[in-house]
Amino acid sequence: MALLTPRAASALFHLRSLQLLSHQYRTTTPLVTMTAVQGPVASTSLPQKPLNTFLNNLPTTVFSVMTELAIKHQSVNLGQGFPDDEGPESMKRIVGEASRERHNQYPPTGGIPELRQAVARHSERYVGLPVNWQTETLITVGATEALAAAFLGLVNPGDEVIIFDPQYDSYSAMAVRTGATVVPVPLDANNSWRVPGQALAQAFSPRTKLILVNSPHNPTGAVFHEDDLREIARLCVEHDVIAICDEVYEHQVFGDSKHVSLRAMPEMRERAIRIGSAGKTFSLTGWKVGWVTGPARLIQALGKAHMFVTFTVAANLQLAVAHGLDKESSFYEGLSASLQSKKDYLAGQLQQLGFEILPSAGTYFLVADFSGLAHSDAQEDDVAFAKRLTVEAGVTTIPVSAFYNGKSAPHNLIRFCFCKTDQKLQSACERLQKYFGPPHRQNGSANGTTNSH
Ligand SMILES: Cc1ncc(COP(=O)(O)O)c(C=O)c1O
Repeated sequence: MALLTPRAASALFHLRSLQLLSHQYRTTTPLVTMTAVQGPVASTSLPQKPLNTFLNNLPTTVFSVMTELAIKHQSVNLGQGFPDDEGPESMKRIVGEASRERHNQYPPTGGIPELRQAVARHSERYVGLPVNWQTETLITVGATEALAAAFLGLVNPGDEVIIFDPQYDSYSAMAVRTGATVVPVPLDANNSWRVPGQALAQAFSPRTKLILVNSPHNPTGAVFHEDDLREIARLCVEHDVIAICDEVYEHQVFGDSKHVSLRAMPEMRERAIRIGSAGKTFSLTGWKVGWVTGPARLIQALGKAHMFVTFTVAANLQLAVAHGLDKESSFYEGLSASLQSKKDYLAGQLQQLGFEILPSAGTYFLVADFSGLAHSDAQEDDVAFAKRLTVEAGVTTIPVSAFYNGKSAPHNLIRFCFCKTDQKLQSACERLQKYFGPPHRQNGSANGTTNSH
């Protein structure tokens, strides 16, 4: 047998395991079949068997619809959640240097030691959680792959996963694709997006495997209250549930609000993983470098999924992020202040125009109630209002109902993304003023835009 690289050998080993499994459990349809091609296949022959039914039946998302509409109408796009101001130059330089210095072959599957060590130091510095870099960290292709690895590595078909509504769109798609049932629990929009204690307790069942806790929260901007986190921890212990903590916005928290990690609660150490993103931490969303910290047993389970999905992450990007986490802390420590002034500006302008601003204590986003500006003759919902805003006012937002999985979606809220240049925010506000007429509200601190949730 020809010499195999360690990676190929390990892949072959697992392929054989799958074949063994197929012999063990299936007599007629092996999981892996290798059939010789019997002759030329007509070029017009199309595969007839159904593609993956769940994914292929998903409709075009409203995110794509709004992006296309934004391009078509050349609107100021405050829909998409990426920052205009990019991260540190030193990190970009390292990416180029690392490529030239031959950091271009497969790095270790768990991540390069430099980055795993930097992630461990970062965890200890910012949430007081020391982790063993060799067994308790994993580097992934963005937080998105970390989430996918979590569902793939932790879920068995038939498990239930509790996810708060509104929610980041990849959670439910991945949960369902891995065979889980999603149990949505709506955050309380009328109470600063607090966790509804009773509804949450009722959502737990003997089949609950995971709960997804995204704080600071996209799309609401809520930073989960410590009391709510304590209650989540209590329920996780009572029902033997693991928490996936999506904390990609941990460095975007405003005013007196404080990011507390659920994993920092002692009873959650062994049953929670924490996900971070270089995209959000360094305003470099196109790099797609993420990380996970957590107990070795759970990290190992995610690592097995990661091994087969992407195996590893670009080496030059990993080196740059390792540098950034240690040496560019002033960049991410400064994010909150610069984002807060953008948020306050936008919130003030929107309030003057007649929007009600819901509290946003973190992230790139604020949610506004447009009821006072909706067409009164027709029952205009958030999708119709957001489309009208793009087409007629030239400003794009995202309807909040798009973030709901359950039936309780409100239809009077839109999400604005404010991590944009000051000129872009100003231009958006000027367009809105022109469209809705001169400001008719006094700017003020009403609605508590800097509340802690
Ligand atoms: C809550 C949340 N989690 C995860 C992600 C994905 O992060 P990444 O770009 O690192 O994959 C996003 C991106 O918008 C997000 O908002």
